[in-house]
Amino acid sequence: MDTPVEGFSKRSKAEKIAYIAEHFTADPKASKKLLEQYWNPDPTVQKLHDEFIENTISNYYLPFAIAPNFLINGKLHVIPMAIEESSVVAAASKAAKFWLNRGGFKTKVIDTEKVGQVHFIYKGDVRKLQGFFEKLKPKLIQSVSSITQNMEKRGGGINDIQLRDLSDKMEGYHQLHCTFETLDAMGANFINSCLEQFAKTLKDEAALYANFAQEEKEIEIVMSILSNYVPNCLVRAEVSCTVSEFEKGGVSAEKFVQAVNIAKVEPYRAVTHNKGIMNGVDAVVLATGNDFRAVEAGVHAYASKDGQYSSLTHASIENDIFSFWIEIPLALGTVGGLTTLHPLVKLGLEILQNPSAKELMQIVAVAGLAQNFAALRSLVTTGIQKGHMKMHLMNMLNQMGASESEKQQLVQYFKDRTVTNASVKAALEKIKAE
Ligand code: MEV
Repeated sequence: MDTPVEGFSKRSKAEKIAYIAEHFTADPKASKKLLEQYWNPDPTVQKLHDEFIENTISNYYLPFAIAPNFLINGKLHVIPMAIEESSVVAAASKAAKFWLNRGGFKTKVIDTEKVGQVHFIYKGDVRKLQGFFEKLKPKLIQSVSSITQNMEKRGGGINDIQLRDLSDKMEGYHQLHCTFETLDAMGANFINSCLEQFAKTLKDEAALYANFAQEEKEIEIVMSILSNYVPNCLVRAEVSCTVSEFEKGGVSAEKFVQAVNIAKVEPYRAVTHNKGIMNGVDAVVLATGNDFRAVEAGVHAYASKDGQYSSLTHASIENDIFSFWIEIPLALGTVGGLTTLHPLVKLGLEILQNPSAKELMQIVAVAGLAQNFAALRSLVTTGIQKGHMKMHLMNMLNQMGASESEKQQLVQYFKDRTVTNASVKAALEKIKAE
């Protein structure tokens, strides 16, 4: 196709599908059928999904699974996870079971501060700007009272607004650096609405400020937007037990700590180590309708906060006690957004007993820690391929077109054999020949 399409968004769903299938797929009839097969049979539910985004032509399924037996602060949880990668849920479940009899996970929310900034250019006298800001601050807060009213009633709202001078980094660059408490909401709309009003008030008030010279009155707003870097929206999750209890699982505690310490000092390893953590974090973030891109961006920035990308988890052995913990920033919501719209997200939250945002932060941190625990245990013993390929066996068999009974026989056959593409293919061919 070398001519751009006109008015695609205005076409009906059927027209969009026809256009895509006919122009971009080899078998338009089969493509159309596939897209339709993934629709929800209930037209109301389908409409809901169609309207989440623009130009929807079908649904994209991810498995929705449960990792049971998570003991968190003395209370049992089952954790919903949405993820495509084999062995993530199995690994989480295994880690939960291991810690179930060793005191479980202990968690604590350290802080829940969210951040947003108005970025602006002011090239005048900085002391005058500071004087102006002192007078401006109450007016800024007043100007958003209709937006903050409800949040304040529930105990949230604006924590603080600071004027920051960053003109040493870029000519005239200043910020209103604002912090918020958004309670159970992730708060993006709330924060961005406040910021856009702050920007307007800042510009209007500057134009009227008598101490500014004419050119100082013309503050240039560049943009107003929340930050996904939330180092003070922080949660900690921890497990600990005696070294001998830990080693009953067949893993050397010292070697486990070494593996964590390698990720602390070596960025190549840290990225993969943290990716494993995010296998658990993202799966719960997705299952609960939260913004995994925001979480990913914030978490990785936090992993670099000391100047070098490093591990998000930590481990120690002190006085014969093995401890393993994570501290991560998580800006999550349990109200608003998809949480009340997406039927499976609603169910996911119900399965978690309708947690507050703070409770969800703790559960998500536990999922990340559990995932890292399971990965490291495999890595320092058998390696991950053994477990991974076992889980992947079903995908291979499906790809190779095995029947239900062939799958059953082969799962049994590979219980004590090495799974590789070639070995599975050969075993399937043998059964088929018999
Ligand atoms: C795979 O998705 C994640 C791991 O690579 C994580 C790690 O290496 O720690 C197993």
